[in-house]
Amino acid sequence: MDGSGDWADAHRRAQDFVRQLTLAEKVNLTTGVGWQGERCVGQTGAIPRLGMRSLCMQDSPVGVRFGDFASVFPAGGTIAASWDRELIYRRANDMGSEHRDKGVDVQLGPVVGPIGRSPAGGRNWEGFSPDPYLSGVAVAESVKGIQDAGVMACTKHFIGNEQEHFRQVGEANGYGYNITNTLSSNIDDRTMHELYLWPFADAVRAGTASIMCAYTNTNNSQSCQNSYLLNHLLKGELGFQGFVMSDWQAQHSGVAGALAGLEMAMPGDTLFNTGVAYYGTNLTIAVLNETVPEWRIDDMATRIMAGWFYVGRDQHERPINFDSWTTDTYGNANFYAKEGYGLINEHVDVRGNHGADIREMAAKSTVLLKNVRNTLPLPAKEKFTGVFGEDAGPNGWGPNGCPDRGCDNGTLGMAWGSGSANFPYLVTPLTAIENEVSKVGGIVQGVIDNWATDQITSLASQASLALVFVNSDSGEGYINVDGNEGDRQNLTLWQNGETLVKNVSALCNNTVVVIHSTGPVLLDSFYDNDNITAIVWAGVPGQESGNSIADILYGRVNPGGKLPFTLGRTRRDYGSDLLYKPNNGKDAPQDNFEDGVYIDYRGFDKRNVTPIYEFGYGLSYTTFEYSNIRIVNRNAKPYAPNTGNTAAAPVLGQSGQVGDYVWDNSSNRVYNYIYPWLNTTDLAASSGDPYYGANVSLPANAQDGSPQPVQAAGGAPGGNPLLYETLYTVYATIKNTGSVGGDEVAQLYVCLGGPDDPLRVLRGFDRLSIEPGQSTTVGFDLTYRDLANWDVVKQDWTISSYAKTVYVGASSRNLPLTVPVPQQK
Ligand code: NOJ
Repeated sequence: MDGSGDWADAHRRAQDFVRQLTLAEKVNLTTGVGWQGERCVGQTGAIPRLGMRSLCMQDSPVGVRFGDFASVFPAGGTIAASWDRELIYRRANDMGSEHRDKGVDVQLGPVVGPIGRSPAGGRNWEGFSPDPYLSGVAVAESVKGIQDAGVMACTKHFIGNEQEHFRQVGEANGYGYNITNTLSSNIDDRTMHELYLWPFADAVRAGTASIMCAYTNTNNSQSCQNSYLLNHLLKGELGFQGFVMSDWQAQHSGVAGALAGLEMAMPGDTLFNTGVAYYGTNLTIAVLNETVPEWRIDDMATRIMAGWFYVGRDQHERPINFDSWTTDTYGNANFYAKEGYGLINEHVDVRGNHGADIREMAAKSTVLLKNVRNTLPLPAKEKFTGVFGEDAGPNGWGPNGCPDRGCDNGTLGMAWGSGSANFPYLVTPLTAIENEVSKVGGIVQGVIDNWATDQITSLASQASLALVFVNSDSGEGYINVDGNEGDRQNLTLWQNGETLVKNVSALCNNTVVVIHSTGPVLLDSFYDNDNITAIVWAGVPGQESGNSIADILYGRVNPGGKLPFTLGRTRRDYGSDLLYKPNNGKDAPQDNFEDGVYIDYRGFDKRNVTPIYEFGYGLSYTTFEYSNIRIVNRNAKPYAPNTGNTAAAPVLGQSGQVGDYVWDNSSNRVYNYIYPWLNTTDLAASSGDPYYGANVSLPANAQDGSPQPVQAAGGAPGGNPLLYETLYTVYATIKNTGSVGGDEVAQLYVCLGGPDDPLRVLRGFDRLSIEPGQSTTVGFDLTYRDLANWDVVKQDWTISSYAKTVYVGASSRNLPLTVPVPQQK
C-alpha cells in the first residue's frame, strides 16, 4: 500500500495508528470473532485500549439485512436499467446512510461478480449488468454513494463467481453432489481484463475500501489465497489501497492466504461455530515464528485502518443498535455463545424519506418493451380493470414470511439470499391499482391464484383491460426454492405464468403483461400475440413495487429505462450457460469460460442471433430522433506504461516475545469466540495444528517485502492513470419528437475493429430528460481504456491499429449515427 490516488491522508493516519498496536491488536483487526459471535453478520476483534470497537460487517446490496425500520431498495440489476448515474448514486447513498445509522462499518455490497455471464445465474440480480462498462459505471457510483455516507463499501465477489452450483463444498454435498473442492472458473487473461476485472477496476478507482474474495477457485487456485488475483491483479495492477475480506468460509488457509493477499478472515472461524481459526491465534503464531513477516501483518492492519479513515469512520461511527439473529429487544449479544445479555435491538428508524426515492428509482428503472395501439399510459378512467397473477398480490405469510426471502410467494419485490433485507412494508401492485381505479370510480378486481382457471376465465372475459403480473425468481445457493438451488433451472416464468398469460390474453384483447424477474425470461410464447398490447419489465423493485409500477402504467412517470441485458428467444441463444453437474469426479468442477468476452449481446452479435428485445432497448411514451454526430480529438497525453519500483514494505512495529501473547485469564473468555491469544508459550501446542512445523514450502519470494518492479498497467487506484485520459469526445443531438416530456438513454458503442473483437461494445451512455420539441446535445468522453485491448504479451492495454467506428443511438441494435475514430498514430 502506498497511499496513491487520494489515499495519502488515510494511509498516513492508518500507519500512525498501526504503529501503536501490539501484535494481538493487529491480529484482532484481521480476524472475525466467529459466526454469530456478535450482532452483525461479521465482526472483527476490538482494540479496547485505543477505543477501537469491533468492526461490523453487514449485508446487503439492497438494504440493511436483518434490520427493522430500514428500507428495501430496487436490486442492483434493476437500478442498472435506469442507466442513470445520479439515481444509482442516490440509491447507494441512501443505503449507506441507513447502514451508518444502524452502526454498520462495512456494507457488504455492491456486487459486480457475478457480472451475469449466464442468464440463469442465481445472484445476477444483486449485480448490475453483463456489460462491463455499464456495470463499471454503476459500481463506481455505488461505491461513492455508500462511502460518502461514511460507511465502507465491500465490492464483491472477486472474481469469476458466476454461479451458485458448487461454490461451496458443504453446500454442494448437502444437495447430493459428491465433490471435495469448489468450482473453478477458468478465465483467460484477455477475458479477465476486458470483462470480469473491468468493473472491479472502476470500483477500485472510485475508492472501494474493501473487496470480498469469492468462494470459487479461479484457474484452479482458491480466490481467497490466489496471489496472482490478490497481489498481482488487484493490488499491483489495479493499485487497490483497501483490504480484502474473505467471503464467509471462503478462507482455506492461514499463512498461504495472508501471503497471497487476504487481509480479513470472515466470519473468522474455519467453519461456522467451530471455535477454531486460520487467523486469530494462528496468525499471531505465524508472525511470531516468522512465516508471516512483520511487514505483512503491518500491511494487513494498515489497509484495514486506511479504509476506515478513508471513509471517515472516525466521524461517522454510531453504536451498533440492531441484531442479526433475533428480533427480540433484549437478548444475548454473543448469540452463539448465549452470553452478553442486554439491550440488543434498539429498533432505530433509519429510513428518512427513502420511500419516496425508492418509488422513483423503481419507476425510472422500469423498461417498456411493447406498447401498441397507444395502450399505455392507461386512461385515467378504465371501465373494468382485471388484475391477474400471484405476482400482483401479497405473500400470504407476510412480506418477510420466508427467511432471507427464500420463496416465491406473492409479488417479487426482492429475491433470495444474503443479498436480501427485511421489508418495512411491501406495496403490492394489486393494492396500488385498486387505489388508482377506485379513486376514479372504475371497476377493479383481482384473481391472484394462478391455478384458479375458472375464476381467471370469468374475470378475463369481463375485463376491458387485463393487467397480468408474472415473475421469475432466483437467489443464493444455500436456499433451494422449488428445485432451484440458487441458480434458476430454466428461464421460463414461475407460478404457472405462461399459462396465465395465455388464458387471459385469449379472452381479453387488451392485455398488459408486467414482468418481475431477476434476469432474462423467455417471452417467445406471447410477446407477439396481438391481444397483448403492452409488455413491461419491472425487475426486482423493492418496497414500493406497486406504487412504482402504477406511476408507469398511469403515466405519471414516462418510462425511460433500458434493458441491462438481452431478452433472447431461447436459452440456447445466450451461448454461455451454467454448469449444473460436476464434471471432474470429486475434484473441483471445471467451468471453462470459453465464451471469452462474448457474453450477452456480444454473443448474440457474434453468432448473428436475433434477440426479441436487445440490450439497451426500451420504449417511451414519446419518441426521439438522433442527429448530428461528430468526434473531437482532445489531444490527450499519450499513453505510457508505468515504470519503476515500489518502495519496500514498511515494518511499523515489532511483535515482541511469545510470552506477551499468552492468555492471562484476567477476563471472561466467550465460548467459541475467536481470539488472538495463545494458550501456552509452546507455539505448536497453541496452534492446535497436528501438522505444525511440517516442512511447508512457500512459493519463492512469498515473504519478500523488498522493492518490486511496478506493473505497466498500474500506478494508481484503478490502474495506470493514463488509461483514463479522454482521447475523444463524441457529440450527438437528440430531439424529443413526440408530444410529452421524457427521458432517453443515449448510448455509444465502439467497434474496436479487430478479428477477435466483439462487433460493438458499449462505451458511453447518458440519460437525458428532454421536453417535447426540444433538442439536447450530449457529449461522450472516450478514454484510452475505452479504445484499447488487453495485450497478453505486453501485459498492458494497447490501442490496436484496426480501424475503429463509433455508433450512437437508442439501443445496441438501433444505432442511427456512426463516425470513424481518427486513426491513432
Ligand atoms: C455469503 C455471500 O456470498 C456474501 O455475499 C455475503 O456477504 C456473506 N455470505 C455474508 O452473509
